[in-house]
Amino acid sequence: MDYSKMKIPRHVGIVVDGNGRWAESDGKIRSYGHKVGAENLEKLSRYILKETGVEVLSVYVFSTENFKRSTEEVDYLMNLFTKKFKSDAKIYKKENIKVVFSGRREPLKEEVLKTIDEITEMTKNNTGGILNFCLNYGGHSEIVDATLKIHQDLIKGIIKEEEVNESLYEHYLYQDLPPIDFLIRTSGESRISNFMLWQASYAEFYFPTTYFPDFNEKEFDKAIIEYNKRDRRFGGIDYDKKNS
Ligand code: IPE
Ligand code: MG
Repeated sequence: MDYSKMKIPRHVGIVVDGNGRWAESDGKIRSYGHKVGAENLEKLSRYILKETGVEVLSVYVFSTENFKRSTEEVDYLMNLFTKKFKSDAKIYKKENIKVVFSGRREPLKEEVLKTIDEITEMTKNNTGGILNFCLNYGGHSEIVDATLKIHQDLIKGIIKEEEVNESLYEHYLYQDLPPIDFLIRTSGESRISNFMLWQASYAEFYFPTTYFPDFNEKEFDKAIIEYNKRDRRFGGIDYDKKNS
């Protein structure tokens, strides 16, 4: 698709969903869906960040609530993350994509944290797009964690009470990123499920029925066509005119 003629969201969020159902619908076990989903994510993230003009891609790959799943599934996912971050670090480095993470470190295992730190370090100077993995992430926890950091800085006198406002608050979130313009959740579920509550306040939502392992480049093109039909006013009336 010719992206040069399209309105391009600066920050896209994807709630990865439907891996399990995708596998089960084909008589396979859920973990197979996670494996194919992870492969798809690596390919799709490169397409989005290198071919379309999107600057930031946030992907919800594991929520704080996902720890409620069976130990077997959680362990499988954690091993998959570890393996993928290890093998994909070189790809993202070469592609000039900066990989960052949002979420709590506790109770992630040492081996997961090690690969997270390695891929972050290896890609930290990259300038060709940001890939933000939301892993052990919760929108509520992010706001609580930011509040605690602000509290600490107030006590230490690093900031003053009268300086606390929305734009200062944003600097205390896990990552200093622009707001989400376009939020996609695959698999037909129409929920936000605690994903980037602060950042998605004015996002356009899109809920394709496609399961994530099938959400490929063509599906993303369709999503952008849909985004281009949306009229974003941010509570005002002439946003487009104001910004042209
Ligand atoms: C999304 O797929 C992957 C993760 C949450 C890690 P699901 O595992 O939620 O797949 P469904 O919803 O059961 O099909
Ligand atoms: Mg699901």
